[in-house]
Amino acid sequence: MAQPQIKLYYKNVLAEVIGEEHGITSAQFRDLEARTSPLIARLNNERKAGKTPYRDLPFRNDIRDAVKDMVADVKADCDTLVVLGIGGSALGNIALQTALNPYMYNIDDNQRSGPRLFVLDNVDPAQLASFFAWLGDGLDRTIFNVISKSGQTAETAAQFLYVRKLLSDKLGPDACKKQIIATTDEKSGTLRTIVEKEGYRSLTVPDGVGGRFSVLSAVGLFSADMCGIDIDALLAGAADMDAAVSCETFKKNPAAINAAINYHFYMRGKRNSVMMPYSNALRDLADWYRQLWAESLGKSTDLEGRKVFIGPTPIKALGATDQHSQVQLYREGTNDKLFTFLQVENFARDIVAGPAPQCAPELGFLAGKKLSALLNNEKKATEYALLEDKRPCLTVTFPKVNAYTVGQFIYLFEVTTSLTGALFNINPYDQPAVELGKEATFALMGKSAANYEQFAKDIRSRTDVDEDFLV
Ligand code: PA5
Repeated sequence: MAQPQIKLYYKNVLAEVIGEEHGITSAQFRDLEARTSPLIARLNNERKAGKTPYRDLPFRNDIRDAVKDMVADVKADCDTLVVLGIGGSALGNIALQTALNPYMYNIDDNQRSGPRLFVLDNVDPAQLASFFAWLGDGLDRTIFNVISKSGQTAETAAQFLYVRKLLSDKLGPDACKKQIIATTDEKSGTLRTIVEKEGYRSLTVPDGVGGRFSVLSAVGLFSADMCGIDIDALLAGAADMDAAVSCETFKKNPAAINAAINYHFYMRGKRNSVMMPYSNALRDLADWYRQLWAESLGKSTDLEGRKVFIGPTPIKALGATDQHSQVQLYREGTNDKLFTFLQVENFARDIVAGPAPQCAPELGFLAGKKLSALLNNEKKATEYALLEDKRPCLTVTFPKVNAYTVGQFIYLFEVTTSLTGALFNINPYDQPAVELGKEATFALMGKSAANYEQFAKDIRSRTDVDEDFLV
């Protein structure tokens, strides 16, 4: 653990800083410790019993090696990598790329150490048509990584069907075998069947690992390794964080403290959880976190089957950009939010503001100043302003944004999610409420199954526009 570690700073949620009405008192903190400590042990036991296989991903050398072998096979002939996936099959890939490759990666060949990467996580036809018009004749140097654990997800399946036809129309019937790599369940599911029947290359989504917990499997590692991200360091960061978040001493365990604080504020009416990175590189990690938090913790029913309708609403914001969009509300609106800032101590690069024009001496305070200093001082300024209004603030500090610290962050928030789920007494690993919308889409799109015809009629009767109410 010689590397600089990410740290969670939690003083600014305490009553000693923001007062007893909104902050956590010492007695409340002791209660949280008593409530959370046994859950750390419970999670450790569940992990030993093989119930949370995502916890083992940092140590799965077999997965890492399979990814590296695949990358060695295809990278030299690939100018463009296209990920087809959605939700947990896309957000981690996007987050890793934004965090760990330069902003102009796709555009500037000098800043790239791999293919361009596009993660197509929607089925907007205008967007896709524009993308494929740009790709044009580059198809034979493009790898399509279709990621779907089930293979049934309508959005990913529709993209896949489009690409499969495009490849065979333009490059011949065998092109799919060369240009498509499927990442899917090892043994079952629609995409696995297609892989086997049509002879595509494939990687696996490990058994028992849900989409939003899968970024450290082949789901996230393949595009990362293709694009020059150090996946060994990413996994090492997660593995080192595993030791910290397995520690059964509450005060030494950052996931336990993070989960307890999030639980406490939710139970006290702060039902929104804002993640605000002061770093463009980290902005899509907030998007990844939003799905992890929402799908895992938004549940109607607890483990005993009682109706609880629980779950903090995750909100992403970007510092300093959203200071000019959201902070008015965050300070003067309802005090119903917990803030988690992400802060970077040393940026990968820095630039310095030039001198002020003679006619504008009021800008002199910026002259010669590093923009990293401006951004980090803006974080402090916003935090101070929120504390003045008694808004609780956490900060996750990154000594640097690199594969190691990003691996730490991912693992910290995954285990925080598990522990918060345990505190809420809900199952954080399912997403039953997403199913109805998926089924309704199937019915509306004419999939044949028992009752789908009637189901589609019922949906239309509730959602077709009633002209009487159009203005
Ligand atoms: O976290 C999850 O389980 C979901 O967001 C899934 O990743 C998403 O629905 C895509 O599912 P699939 O990988 O089966 O296409």
